[in-house]
Amino acid sequence: MRTLIKHVLARKEGTDSLEIAGWVRTRRDSKAFSFIELNDGSCLGNLQIVADAGIPGYEEIHGMTTGASVSVSGKLIPSPAQGQDWEMQASSIKLLGAAPEDYPLQKKGHSPEFLRSIAHLRPRTNLFGATFRLRSRMSHAIHRFFQERDFVHVHTPIITASDCEGAGEMFRVTTLPDDKIAKDTEDFFGKRAYLTVSGQLEGETFACALSNIYTFGPTFRAENSNTSRHAAEFWMVEPEMAFCDLAGDMDCAEQLIRFLAAEALADPDLSIFEKFVDKTLRERLQHVVEKPFQRISYTDAVKLLEGSGKNFQYPVAYGLNLQSEHERWLTEEYFKQPTTVFNYPKEIKPFYMRLNEDGKTVTAMDLLVPGIGEIIGGSQREERYDVLLENFKHHHIDPEAYGWYADLRKYGTVPHAGFGLGFERLLMFVTGVHNIRDVIPFPRTPGHCEF
Ligand code: 4AD
Repeated sequence: MRTLIKHVLARKEGTDSLEIAGWVRTRRDSKAFSFIELNDGSCLGNLQIVADAGIPGYEEIHGMTTGASVSVSGKLIPSPAQGQDWEMQASSIKLLGAAPEDYPLQKKGHSPEFLRSIAHLRPRTNLFGATFRLRSRMSHAIHRFFQERDFVHVHTPIITASDCEGAGEMFRVTTLPDDKIAKDTEDFFGKRAYLTVSGQLEGETFACALSNIYTFGPTFRAENSNTSRHAAEFWMVEPEMAFCDLAGDMDCAEQLIRFLAAEALADPDLSIFEKFVDKTLRERLQHVVEKPFQRISYTDAVKLLEGSGKNFQYPVAYGLNLQSEHERWLTEEYFKQPTTVFNYPKEIKPFYMRLNEDGKTVTAMDLLVPGIGEIIGGSQREERYDVLLENFKHHHIDPEAYGWYADLRKYGTVPHAGFGLGFERLLMFVTGVHNIRDVIPFPRTPGHCEF
């Protein structure tokens, strides 16, 4: 029977019979009646309730303080007040749960750091409510993008024995007691197991059967990076396409970002980010939707950086990884547009990337965006059996443990490519929010696993 406030506020006409429920944002009393601003989290807007003294439940009005939960019956009438079309004339009101004086979300603004310390309550604030509604809609949009293009959604495993990125940044999963922690063969799976860093390797097996697939799930990295764009647990969208090369991969990545920027522009919650986080947000996203993205090889990008005259904190030279400051210079200052850097030196990239004809570079690509840097990492995969086995050697990978992966190259191998989009980095990009900890419900970062 309860109507969500978002539907109430969108009504074209009033009604004599309405039931709503929510949490009190503010209350003002006069002798004869009280005004309550109620929010139920379905949208940014509050519904104003006018409660006359004497209606059933009014005797509990003093308990209806900020943060308390209440349900209301009554009618919806045009509001004489400025800035709102409707208000609710209560015929009865009920206090469901009081919120004592120590309720931490009082009317004054709170810092993001303080709100992180109450991550169980912060979705009740305007900004975080908007963030998590938008997160939900962007997740849905990602599924739509791929489903409309005939990609099959595959649920790749969370527990795995392989290290896709080869960086050794994996959280171990074990049931061994402390005194037996080294005895891998006695562990639950009879060998070492970890939380996945990427669904890619398993995704490849499905692309090499179903053509185009994507996986979208949580991934885990035990990297000790205390930055505003790294989390130990984050969500990744990973498409994988058979019969596809690096150019096709970059096309798909760019289309996805453009599609999601357009979705964000149409989002009903975008205005709050524009108002409080980034005044240029709408203009910036419009630019992403309308203007072509840039592409540049790693070799040329390094030349540009070397000639930039900038005093970077980290060195720039062929063979070194691009750091966030370099990525941001390219996309923010030089191109002023999302930019894909491709063909990186093989030494700084994982074993699965396809070796180029020059024997020096691999078909890697990173899509960089202003304000963040790398948002997507991907590549064409090495589909040649012998070359892959060589790569195993160079990267000290046990070919037996990855025999199933090599089999894809032994039986009906095909060129294929894919990428991973960090979902939280995408959310930072489309909202302007600066810290990854503020776009994921319960952030996991070094030293932090509360809630
Ligand atoms: O570049 P990465 O490491 O690529 C892979 O994992 C590939 N296996 C993906 C693939 O080809 N299927 O990570 C991909 C993206 C990055 O561009 C970044 O957006 C995000 O994942 N990412 C992180 N996001 C938050 N916290 C971290 N610690 C992240 N590490 C990577």
